[in-house]
Amino acid sequence: MFEQNKIRLEFPILGSSVNGNQLVYLDNAATTQKPLQVIHKISEYYENNNANVHRGVHFLSTKATNLYEDARRKLQQYINAKSSDEIVFCRGTTEAINLVANSFLRTRLNSGDEIIISAMEHHSNIVPWQIVANSVGATIKVIPINKQGELVIEDLPKLLCKKTKLVAVSHISNALGTINPIKKIIDICHAKNVPVLVDGAQATPHQLVNVTDLDCDFYAFSGHKMYGPTGIGVLFAKKEHLESMPPYQGGGEMIKMVSFTETEYNDIPYKFEAGTPNIAGAIGLGTAVEFLDDLGLEQIELYEKQLLEYLTAKISMLAGINIIGTAKQKTGILSFTLDNIHAHDVATILDDDGIAIRAGHHCAMPIMSYFNVAATSRISLSFYNTEEDVDKCISALQKVRKIFA
Ligand code: ALA
Repeated sequence: MFEQNKIRLEFPILGSSVNGNQLVYLDNAATTQKPLQVIHKISEYYENNNANVHRGVHFLSTKATNLYEDARRKLQQYINAKSSDEIVFCRGTTEAINLVANSFLRTRLNSGDEIIISAMEHHSNIVPWQIVANSVGATIKVIPINKQGELVIEDLPKLLCKKTKLVAVSHISNALGTINPIKKIIDICHAKNVPVLVDGAQATPHQLVNVTDLDCDFYAFSGHKMYGPTGIGVLFAKKEHLESMPPYQGGGEMIKMVSFTETEYNDIPYKFEAGTPNIAGAIGLGTAVEFLDDLGLEQIELYEKQLLEYLTAKISMLAGINIIGTAKQKTGILSFTLDNIHAHDVATILDDDGIAIRAGHHCAMPIMSYFNVAATSRISLSFYNTEEDVDKCISALQKVRKIFA
């Protein structure tokens, strides 16, 4: 398995101390820490290679362009897309979904049409669809969940109809950790000729994702949740969709020719990358996926699964604990409430011991309503976490219970 001590040295922040204790970072679903390789790659870019891309004939511009396009190819390989033209760099999952909502969907959506999402979506996979739906008088339908926090897939065929223009669903729930049967969902939708967008923000850091095997139409993910920089992410879209979609934003880079009367747009993917892109971010993300590939996604998935089992067994022994999200297929995310103690109090007391977890609605208010809670505390794991991290967290939770006893 992993040489944990060696891996942790790659993440200097893990050695820092918080309130006199060594940091225990268990908020990886919100954002992951960055390895030295990524940090160095970004500073090396600014030290030696900085110039604008696709614009200059000079030496530095060519260097920057090559690095940027190399990063696109690394991302293509990471998710096994057929062509690097299908990789659009954007700010993150949220922008990728907004791009599809405002370009692909807006041009196809009419009054009375329907969009299907699921009951466990993050706000970023709800609100963009609502905005477009409201603007034309379309409706949002929702695939329900059960008490374990699993999608009731049997209901999907009943929800699909001639009016359905798109299904948008998360691969893995950020609030529950549920891994959805995404391939099955795509097959059901495609049998009715309905395109599917997958929010993959919580999947790409933790398991192999193969968009060609999945045959999804769109797959959106963020760099910062997969050990890369913030402000960079990817929209994968099938070539035929990108070719048919109008631009989302106008500006430099996305054009071939502009006059005061008309504009000829650039080829894909540049048609969707208006303005100077986050060049350093894309290059840093390219290094992050190389780092993940070197560690091995299968190894990462296995290790994090074992650590989740260890955590689940330990936390289940605490008095007054309620685990929110007990699906059979889960990634390393554990949401919980403690009887009569607010989630924010739990997270604040843990922070005193240098333990970082997230508390709140996790940008998934409909799930909180479904489970009838205002908020949960959430522990989210990475391959750099250890059983020792989990033990420290459990001891701190015992302390919380004593304080509120
Ligand atoms: N979506 C991120 C989370 O789940 C911010 O914490």
